[in-house]
Amino acid sequence: MTITDRRIVTLTGIQPTGELHLGNYAGAIRPLARLAADEGREVYVFVADLHALNGHPDPAVLADRTQRIAAALLACGLDRPNVHVYRQSRVPAIARLAALLNPVTSKGLLNRAHAYKAAVAANAEAGRDPDHGINIGLYSYPVLMAADILGLDADEVPVGADQAQHLEIAVDLAQQFARTYRGEVLREPRALIPEAIATLPGLDGRKMSKSYGNTIPLMADPDVIKATIRRIVTDSTPPEHPKAPDTLVALLRAFADASTIRDVETRYREGGIGYGETKALLTAVIEQHVSPLRARYQQLRAEPAALHERLRQGERHAARRADEVLARAMTAMGL
Ligand code: ADP
Ligand code: TRP
Repeated sequence: MTITDRRIVTLTGIQPTGELHLGNYAGAIRPLARLAADEGREVYVFVADLHALNGHPDPAVLADRTQRIAAALLACGLDRPNVHVYRQSRVPAIARLAALLNPVTSKGLLNRAHAYKAAVAANAEAGRDPDHGINIGLYSYPVLMAADILGLDADEVPVGADQAQHLEIAVDLAQQFARTYRGEVLREPRALIPEAIATLPGLDGRKMSKSYGNTIPLMADPDVIKATIRRIVTDSTPPEHPKAPDTLVALLRAFADASTIRDVETRYREGGIGYGETKALLTAVIEQHVSPLRARYQQLRAEPAALHERLRQGERHAARRADEVLARAMTAMGL
């Protein structure tokens, strides 16, 4: 195979740090599934369980979340022959490559990383020691993330804008490795940051995020989703009055068909629709979208052995690729 007929390798990771919500689905999983629908791509998607360790999750909770996220990814359009779903911790070459990247990573580079700087700033604000509660896992997070990416020879990495700096660091480390050792051993990836994808608002109108506790869960039972949608904050404008597009409209735009969106937008502009009716419509639209995904998810959850085997397949694929990259790096370094 030559470089030109090689399929594009797309890679991304998702941390098992909470329950998946509609924002994760609309902003990360669905766009990835759309990329994966192109057979010209080979897609590697992993649950970043090693990264999650920095927060010291309860082991049983971490194990459960890892399974849930893996099942959700498979249920949301990523159960395809050109997609490899795996657990980061089950591909040992990744952690080994991270160890090989350490000597080419300048400490100054990591001092400038946003997540670390934010943790230091929070300590300063609270009048604590600057390093309070900061472990080396958090500090060197960008190195492990670079190993995730470089270790799989990824071409493109779809991520949210908040991850742009991490991608720059991965490129930096590939270049630093090339300067320190002979030639181009590690492929330079590029970030794929989808600007057209809107940030979904949560129940209180801020960005839907587990850190704000304002999420609508992706895989919950219909009555839970319905009750959660009822809690979306609205004002007291009566049904007949015109309204500005709000959280409900933003959520409809993410899940409804074009004519439903147009219709609701018109009735908002001209008056003639109440929040109760809009919430009921939104509930139905989301349920229609999510119910086939939930059914598949529940099936996967009910058969843990089959899920495990499916992940093992992904892990074998990923390991084969990562072992090759690791061997290249070791040879270049004289190991
Ligand atoms: P959270 O903000 O809930 O902690 P994460 O930061 O773990 O979510 O995000 C995981 C992925 O989901 C990222 O790719 C991120 O860009 C995407 N994502 C999270 N929240 C939203 C949102 N409200 N709208 C669109 N995409 C989102
Ligand atoms: N840091 C990413 C996040 O918090 C998750 C992640 C870990 C990742 N390794 C990756 C994303 C490699 C893309 C590629 O969302």
